[in-house]
Amino acid sequence: MVGGPLYSDVRYLHAKRSVDDRALNRPVLEQLRAELAALPPPVRVLELGAGVGTMVSRLADLGWMARGRYTLLDRDGASLASAAEHLRKWGGPATGGGSDGDGDGRVTVRDQARDLEVDLVEADVFDWLATNADRAYDLVVANAFLDLVDVGALLPALWRCLAPGRPFWFSINFDGETIFLPELPLDAAVMALYHRGMDQRVRDGRRAGESKTGRHLLQQLPGSGARLLGAGSSDWVVLPSAGGADAPRYPEDEAYFLHHIVQTIEVALTGERSLEASAFAAWSDARHRQIERGELIYIAHQLDVVGLAPSSPSAFLPAPPILIPGRP
Ligand SMILES: C[S@@+](CC[C@H](N)C(=O)[O-])C[C@H]1O[C@@H](n2cnc3c(N)ncnc32)[C@H](O)[C@@H]1O
Repeated sequence: MVGGPLYSDVRYLHAKRSVDDRALNRPVLEQLRAELAALPPPVRVLELGAGVGTMVSRLADLGWMARGRYTLLDRDGASLASAAEHLRKWGGPATGGGSDGDGDGRVTVRDQARDLEVDLVEADVFDWLATNADRAYDLVVANAFLDLVDVGALLPALWRCLAPGRPFWFSINFDGETIFLPELPLDAAVMALYHRGMDQRVRDGRRAGESKTGRHLLQQLPGSGARLLGAGSSDWVVLPSAGGADAPRYPEDEAYFLHHIVQTIEVALTGERSLEASAFAAWSDARHRQIERGELIYIAHQLDVVGLAPSSPSAFLPAPPILIPGRP
């Protein structure tokens, strides 16, 4: 079932919302809330790799972003089109603005409780930051994103977009541990190769994330001149917690979320010479069947961080090198 038409990144991102809601680190969220409360409205927010736009509605529903001017940046037009649809549905009759149907566009939500303007921008983050360095954002957010990019290259460009000393919130950063229960004999080999693949991923000539992004951020952020205010784990834990003992099932669309995770591993490791093909096919088949029966438990270790951008451009320091075993 590798790369089958049943799989959709947009559906995966919507299914991920309830998993993220449980996972987001509460003390880090509290620190973010305190920082947001100190910002003069309307708050100018830049969200990197924004996907289907669930963070805008999450922050507004929490009551922390009543007046905001958002830029949602993502290179995937289909996700941004779904973000516009999600925001229009969420905004209901308070919604305005338009879209070119191709990702870019603006959605506004204005009523007694909300004054939000959301610009949807389809672009690669490095290209966009290179040409938008003069924008003085009040807050930068990235959820489940920094483990997909070269953080060392990103941070200096990002700090030029954020007003000095303003807050950042980087959440759901993968940190090197994937666990499936019940355990299968092939798990250790599959996970080692899956994580190694993350460390070797290159896109557009750049390193595209790594398997220990979470812990490395704790060094890279201060190394770039930023100040860390807090950090904590935000592990995804997905259980068949709905239904009864006789008919266990996953809440919301989390069965789909799990199928998508297993399919992502299938795609990443198909053709991997050190895995015997039929044994790997049996492994992924067993995992899909466990999901269908409500037996699979999935844990991914992740970290959230909150902090403040460098207080002045002169505070920029070179990031310390991150040494990854097996890489030159
Ligand atoms: C795992 S998804 C997370 C989406 C959203 N933040 C969420 O948590 O639901 C990562 C997103 O980053 C986007 N992305 C990855 N690399 C990017 C890049 N270099 N520039 C812009 N967007 C990128 C992908 O298109 C995808 O929508």
